[in-house]
Amino acid sequence: MAPRHLMSPLDFTVDETEKLLDLADSIGRDPLKYSHICDGKKIATLFYEPSTRTRLSFEAAMMNLGGKALGFHSSDSSSATKGESVADTIRIVSCYADICAMRHPKEGAPLVASIYSGIPVINAGDGGHQHPTQTLTDMLTIRSLKGRLDHLRIGLCGDLKFGRTVHSLISSLSRYPGISFVLISPEELRVPSYVREDMKSKNIPFEEVVRLDKDTMADLDILYMTRVQKERFFNEADYVRMKDFYILDRDKMEVAPPEMMVLHPLPRVNEIAVEVDSDPRAAYFRQVQYGVYARMALILTLLELDKGV
Ligand code: CP
Repeated sequence: MAPRHLMSPLDFTVDETEKLLDLADSIGRDPLKYSHICDGKKIATLFYEPSTRTRLSFEAAMMNLGGKALGFHSSDSSSATKGESVADTIRIVSCYADICAMRHPKEGAPLVASIYSGIPVINAGDGGHQHPTQTLTDMLTIRSLKGRLDHLRIGLCGDLKFGRTVHSLISSLSRYPGISFVLISPEELRVPSYVREDMKSKNIPFEEVVRLDKDTMADLDILYMTRVQKERFFNEADYVRMKDFYILDRDKMEVAPPEMMVLHPLPRVNEIAVEVDSDPRAAYFRQVQYGVYARMALILTLLELDKGV
């Protein structure tokens, strides 16, 4: 049977997503129960672009399940430097591992890999396009902290043009009733038109604003901060001009709603002042732990080991 892959959060129906999040919840409550389900299994992490959280959390997830991890952390340390294609690489890796997580600077590279793969391929971030496992992490975090994924007003702030986590989160949450978005970005870093058109076609309420202030944050349930994606800029001067456009600090948090949770996919640069970390509404480090549970649940789901656990 052909393996199942994850390229976009929409590859899972809402029902399947909820089941996966339920499984992640269950793993979080009793991780030891799952500690041998993947005995003898291996995950290959093929990272053509830098990562701390995504690669290490995939490897930790497989190890937590009793399996092992292998892979490379940059294209420089793989035969990509000799000119090997993604298609050939995944054919080879399919002989070594049971499942693969791939990050690549080119949009669509994990999709190409999935076409030639004998094992499930997970898109671990492709250029400025999609980052579906960050979305599963974000959804698990939101559902755990807010108790629901519907009827939420979500502010997304920063680099909404290149921020792949934003694109994936919008598309996934748009399937839930009562969702509205406040898109906070400089003019130059607004969401791509395909994301905007998709929200319009689904009648999702959204507004686009430039300022992050008291009025903008009023009524927000979640403020999702993002960094300006330095690596996607063609021009250093543009990055320097944009990089400190938003800084969420203690003063801003003082005028924010008392129940507004702050999320960030990380890494953070300057967009959240360190003084915010001790605010009980700052959830971005808790989000990291949810990412391990979400990826454990995803591995079990794609390997079809999720039945009866
Ligand atoms: N959130 C995220 O993708 O982080 P890394 O780039 O460190 O994997």
